Amino acid sequence: MGLKRDLTLLDATSIGIGAIIGAGIFAVIGIAVGYAGPAVVISMIIAGIAASFTAFSFAELGSAIPKEGGAYQFAYELISPSVGFVIGCLWLFAQIVAGAAISISFASYFVAIFPILPSKIVAVITALTLTGLNLIGIKQSTTVNNILVAVKIAILCLFVAFGVFHINPQNFADFNPNGAAGILQGASFIFFAYLGYGRIAALGEEVKNPEKNLPRAILISLIVAIAVYVLTGFAATGMQDYRILAQSAAPIADAIKPTGNFTMLTLVSAGALIATISVLLTSLIGLSRVAFAMARNGQFPKSIAKVSAKFGTPYLSVLTMGLLLTVLAFALELKETVAITSFALLATHLVVNLCAIKLRKSSCTTKFRTPCYPANAMLGSISCLILMFSLPAESWIVGAVVVAISAALYLLNTKKQGKSERRLTLQAKDYK
Ligand code: ALA
Repeated sequence: MGLKRDLTLLDATSIGIGAIIGAGIFAVIGIAVGYAGPAVVISMIIAGIAASFTAFSFAELGSAIPKEGGAYQFAYELISPSVGFVIGCLWLFAQIVAGAAISISFASYFVAIFPILPSKIVAVITALTLTGLNLIGIKQSTTVNNILVAVKIAILCLFVAFGVFHINPQNFADFNPNGAAGILQGASFIFFAYLGYGRIAALGEEVKNPEKNLPRAILISLIVAIAVYVLTGFAATGMQDYRILAQSAAPIADAIKPTGNFTMLTLVSAGALIATISVLLTSLIGLSRVAFAMARNGQFPKSIAKVSAKFGTPYLSVLTMGLLLTVLAFALELKETVAITSFALLATHLVVNLCAIKLRKSSCTTKFRTPCYPANAMLGSISCLILMFSLPAESWIVGAVVVAISAALYLLNTKKQGKSERRLTLQAKDYK
């Protein structure tokens, strides 16, 4: 039996916004402000446009190859199984590190309100609890998701409305302290804040009129995210000195401190907790899908795809991913996790854009009415490359190590498969 096609454009958009707005605007903004200063609002627009180009490539590929597995599946079918495998591993790795980043962000706001435990311990407890919830297969219903999205946006709007009346123009005196390079570096970090729109592309079988509604939902959720982020960034850097925000683990709460309004501070911190935890819950669900798709294609051990009889969840894959995420949340700092995630995801997005170029080239003369020139995917590739080059060298090194390990695993796997195929042929000969 297929899935019920009952999600409206509003539901799909709400699922997208639910997966997008989280740790990025509440915590990663501090890191981006450290590079761009108050010009972080320009970084936000640049990162949002880069995300939109790739989002359209995702939507185009999603309707041509409507299978689970996202970037992995596209690269597997359009480029080669080996590139698909490496991209799948890079994507999984990025999602695990992103989960660690979100757990750390949740912990920062939690200890800001309840300073009872060290932040690292809270991050570990958060990651373990969320892994447990995923093991038993908890899912947000559409209604719960819509409520969470409304609360997140309402709290950020309140922050902006409050902020514009408490702006200190002095804070904008040094608007762009590090020039164009600082703005691009800020954009490469804040790119993290736009991740999550892939959740909409995965709804192909559940949305009414998907050809129209999927791209529309992607576009609307990214426009809403850009607008909310720019306004929030403007209010935050207007209220507080950007150098203080850059050092803060809970920058949106620290932006309110000069006003001395404790009620607002508590409300915004509560909003941060809701936003981060809801994004973490949904992003962990997405992780097991790609591991599943890779196991189904014989590229991961079959046991990864084992499903719990009791809860109907791929427990081995959830457990492995959840434990890795917990270790990383303990061992790494927010800035490291965000740099690694942004790099790995920009690299997978680059390959997605290349897949979209290939798809256009192979299909434009036959079945598609769309123009043959892959302008969107080309702009997507270029913007991904520019942002990748704006990230610290360490993220390139980590990315290269992950690519090298996945390539070695792929070769080992192919060799093993080759050997067992040869053994089978020899056995067959013996029987003749
Ligand atoms: N965009 C997501 C967030 O900001 C990953 O939490």
